[in-house]
Amino acid sequence: MPIHRPRPILSREITDEGLYLDRRRFLQGAAGAAAGLALSGCFGAEEVSASSGAPAPAQLVDVPRGPAEFQTDESPTSYADATTYNNFYEFGTGKTDPAARAGSLRPKPWSVAIEGEVGRPGSVPLEELLRPHTLEERVYRLRCVEAWSMVIPWIGIPLVDVLKRFEPTSKAKFVAFETLVDPEQMPGQRRGILDWPYREGLRIDEATHPLVLLAVGMYGRELPNQNGAPLRLVVPWKYGFKSIKSIVKIRLQESQPQTTWSQENAREYGFFANVNPEVSHPRWSQARERRIGDLRKRPTLYLNGYADEVGSLYRGMDPARLF
Ligand code: MTE
Repeated sequence: MPIHRPRPILSREITDEGLYLDRRRFLQGAAGAAAGLALSGCFGAEEVSASSGAPAPAQLVDVPRGPAEFQTDESPTSYADATTYNNFYEFGTGKTDPAARAGSLRPKPWSVAIEGEVGRPGSVPLEELLRPHTLEERVYRLRCVEAWSMVIPWIGIPLVDVLKRFEPTSKAKFVAFETLVDPEQMPGQRRGILDWPYREGLRIDEATHPLVLLAVGMYGRELPNQNGAPLRLVVPWKYGFKSIKSIVKIRLQESQPQTTWSQENAREYGFFANVNPEVSHPRWSQARERRIGDLRKRPTLYLNGYADEVGSLYRGMDPARLF
C-alpha cells in the first residue's frame, strides 16, 4: 500500500456531484423497521451536511449506544474528514477519489452470500441479514497502517451475532470476506492495481469477538458509498485495511484465507495486522500517528488501545506472527 501523506481535506476540494448520488434508504424501509428504528440520531444534520454541501445519507434513527466498555469518549473525527479522506481502491488510489467517484456504486438491492463451513449456507438479501438484529452505535478508534487515525461513531451489529445464525461447523476456523466485483459500479477495478475482489479474513476467535462490527452506518446515518456502503467490517484493534468495505461474501473455512494486502506484499502487510507501535512497517515507524484534523502526532497504542479486550486472543503466540 503506497503511503499517502495525511492532511485534512478541504470540502472545496470535493466537487463531484456523484459524491452523494444514489443514496439509498434501505434502512428506512423494511430493514429499518425490523431493526426497531425511529427518528433521531446523535449527530445533527448541520454537522453531517458540513462535508460538502451535498445532502447527507439517510438518517438511522433511535439507534442505542452499544456497551459502555466498547466506547471511546474521544471526540469523533469530523464527518467531512471521515467521508472525504478515504481508502477505497475500487474507486482509485487517491484519498479524495472515493468521495468523488463512489456515486456509481449501487448499494441497493444488495445480497450477501454466506458459504463454507456453516449449517445454513445461502445468499441473503441485506434486509434479511439485518432483520433479527438491533443496530447499535459504537465509537471506535480507526488506525490506518499509513499512520493516520480517526475516531468514528459506527452503527452496526456484532459480527458474532450474524455468524451464529448460520450455524458454523466445528471446521470453521477462519472467516473470509470479499468485496463486490463490478467494474461498472467500481471503476477502479478496470485497472489491475489489486487482484480483485478485495479480500480479507479473520481467525474465528477474532471474528467472534464482540468488538467486531458489521457496520451499516456512521454518524447517525447510512454508510456513504465511499465508506463501504451498504455493509462493511470494523475491526478496531487491527490496521484499517482489515476493515473490508462493501461486502458481498462471507465464507467460513478451515484454512487461513488469502487476503488482498498480504498477497500483494506479505512482508509489509501481514494476515493479523494488529496495531503495534513497536513493530515498524518496513518503510515507516508505527510508533506515532496523526489523528486526522489534529496538527500534532500522538503515540500509537498497542492493539489500538483495545489490549484489555482482545490481548488474550494472542497470548502464547509468537509476536513476530501477529503483525
Ligand atoms: N475495503 C475495500 N474493499 N477496498 C479498500 O481499498 N481500504 C482499506 C479499508 N477497507 C479498502 C477497504 C483501508 S487501507 C482502510 S484504512 C479503510 O478501509 C479506510 O476506511 P475509511 O475510508 O472508511 O476511513
